[in-house]
Amino acid sequence: MANEFRTLESHSAEYFGDSRDYWWNADFLELIGKRLSFDRVSDALDVGCGVGHWGRLLAHILPSGARVQGVDRDPLWVEKARLRAAALGLADRFGYQVSVAEKLPFAEASFDLVTCQTLLIHLPDPAAAIREMIRVVRPCGLVLASEPNNIAGALTFDSITFHDPVDEIIARARLQLICERGKAALGEGANSIGDLVPGLFAENGLVDIRVYLNDKANAFVPPYDSPEQRAVLEERADHNDRDFWIWSREDTHRYFLAGKGAAGEFEALWSVAIGHGDSSEFDKAIANRTYSGAGGGIGYLVAGRKPSLPEDR
Ligand SMILES: C[S@@+](CC[C@H](N)C(=O)[O-])C[C@H]1O[C@@H](n2cnc3c(N)ncnc32)[C@H](O)[C@@H]1O
Repeated sequence: MANEFRTLESHSAEYFGDSRDYWWNADFLELIGKRLSFDRVSDALDVGCGVGHWGRLLAHILPSGARVQGVDRDPLWVEKARLRAAALGLADRFGYQVSVAEKLPFAEASFDLVTCQTLLIHLPDPAAAIREMIRVVRPCGLVLASEPNNIAGALTFDSITFHDPVDEIIARARLQLICERGKAALGEGANSIGDLVPGLFAENGLVDIRVYLNDKANAFVPPYDSPEQRAVLEERADHNDRDFWIWSREDTHRYFLAGKGAAGEFEALWSVAIGHGDSSEFDKAIANRTYSGAGGGIGYLVAGRKPSLPEDR
């Protein structure tokens, strides 16, 4: 199974499948590590670490002796992250503990690098977490956030959706945008907050702010036989079987109403979102090897440095 966690109630369980290991090009992260002088990092903190995907990826480009501490508010994810690190023989380099991002259990200036990936999109007050990340990073240390603009995905296509009627494309984008607004209104975070992260970094005192775009497109092309494409295919088939869109039907409905969507409109929009519950066109295109997509998206990597202490200047 490409996602052993998919039916758990815990936060983001649907998104902790094997496809998450393929979000980045390793050589791109190496380049970022060079640009941001990762060679100076000996202690890193991964906030909202989930089961540890992001911290483990970064560890490949950190100095071999660097330690990575992960924190997550969900004890189940902390336990799973520990088990994964142990299974990979990395337990001496990786530590995990339960904590919320808004109140980190570390002294000021404890880390050279404090980072997060797709955490701020889930927080009611991302600035509060950013302030904590800045508090625990050392002067001249680095705060690094990997956060998307997810709404852009509503206007990227595959070989099936490319030909959808304009009204259906607009309906899907509309549903997604109303739900993103509703999710934020409910205090569950703004799914496209990536656009605002550089400004939040500057407002909270970080300097030397740099913004990059993840250069990985998650292309899907026949014969779909790479481990990455097999993982994506398996997860997608599972989502189709369970009528899972970006969110479950229940969450989508909740977000839609909170985003001031008209209750009477929901069923029609949901039906468009899940392709009218009919995945046969997709299944056939996969079987015939005619399905493809370039898989573009907007994933920002935003870096900023904590200023040096005034007495050091
Ligand atoms: C989408 S996942 C990202 C996981 C990980 N950063 C990665 O990229 O694989 C978001 C994670 O943030 C955690 N989370 C949500 N709100 C949090 C908070 N206030 N403090 C700490 N963790 C939080 C969730 O439990 C979940 O594991």
